[in-house]
Amino acid sequence: MKYKEIISEIKSVRDYRDEEVSQELFDELKQYYNKAKRLVNDIEIEVLRKNSEVYEQLKDSAGYNNKMIKAPHYLIFLSEEKEHYIENVGYAAQDIMLKAWSLGIGSCWITFEDGEKIKEKLQIKSDKKLVALIAMGYEVEHKNKVLYENVSEYNPSKADVKVVEDNTSERLGIRDIVFMKKWGEKADPDELVNYGLLEGFTYGRLAPSTKNRQPWRFIVDYGRVVLTLKKDSYVSEYEEKIDTAVIMLYFNAVLESTLYGIEWKFGKPDKDYQVPDDYKIVGYCIV
Ligand SMILES: Cc1cc2nc3c(=O)[nH]c(=O)nc-3n(C[C@H](O)[C@H](O)[C@H](O)COP(=O)(O)O)c2cc1C
Repeated sequence: MKYKEIISEIKSVRDYRDEEVSQELFDELKQYYNKAKRLVNDIEIEVLRKNSEVYEQLKDSAGYNNKMIKAPHYLIFLSEEKEHYIENVGYAAQDIMLKAWSLGIGSCWITFEDGEKIKEKLQIKSDKKLVALIAMGYEVEHKNKVLYENVSEYNPSKADVKVVEDNTSERLGIRDIVFMKKWGEKADPDELVNYGLLEGFTYGRLAPSTKNRQPWRFIVDYGRVVLTLKKDSYVSEYEEKIDTAVIMLYFNAVLESTLYGIEWKFGKPDKDYQVPDDYKIVGYCIV
């Protein structure tokens, strides 16, 4: 998959055409999904596809402020409850969303509070936990212009990144989210190039996150990248875990062709990085 291209373009789609996606395309997605990399091995995930009836069923019980998104299809991810099962599904679901975009299909995460209640409303009888709810379908084409934002200062390929004006959200810059060796020490993009990491952050900062809060801050400490996450009272533990998984996927997807075998570990490394109280270390990897 051409991850960089897709990541530059993808956005959350909240306005869907009244048109179904063909079975062939869903088969292609399934084929991709069955072979895709997982964040954690040995956790069984089940993916259900449901159609437009889900909108009525969940009308006042899912989405930001319980504002459900109306779509022709929904993917519902159920998982065995094992350590880091939420992150594992977050990683797999976001990967499907990227693949879907490459096939011309839009999607959007739909948050929720009580997975058991959602299962009940959807009449899903399963011992597995409900972990992700994704709206899917073709985007309503808006009349808005397509803009090109020049981010070449931090983009080694000097390519312009395409931005669609209607509902594309703002993003923080590399220097805002990457620190060098210790908290607060802003990273120099040239140094990140030397480590082979710049593109991981350049594209990583485009990742979707709950309410677009872009909670990730990184500390690059020689061959180690430490991932920290902002604690916000209005964000649930579930949302924090999905936000964590999504950035892990983006980072891996973009760097896998140049840095072989990046593997995220959950938890803290054995060094005190003096992360302030409103952030926490959620994982790290060796690059
Ligand atoms: C865990 C998670 C939950 C989300 N829940 C919702 C939601 O319930 N409703 C919604 O409209 N967007 C939701 N989003 C989409 C984000 O608001 C969106 O990714 C962010 O604003 C960035 O915009 P973009 O994806 O268009 O780049 C969610 C995203 C994530 C990662």
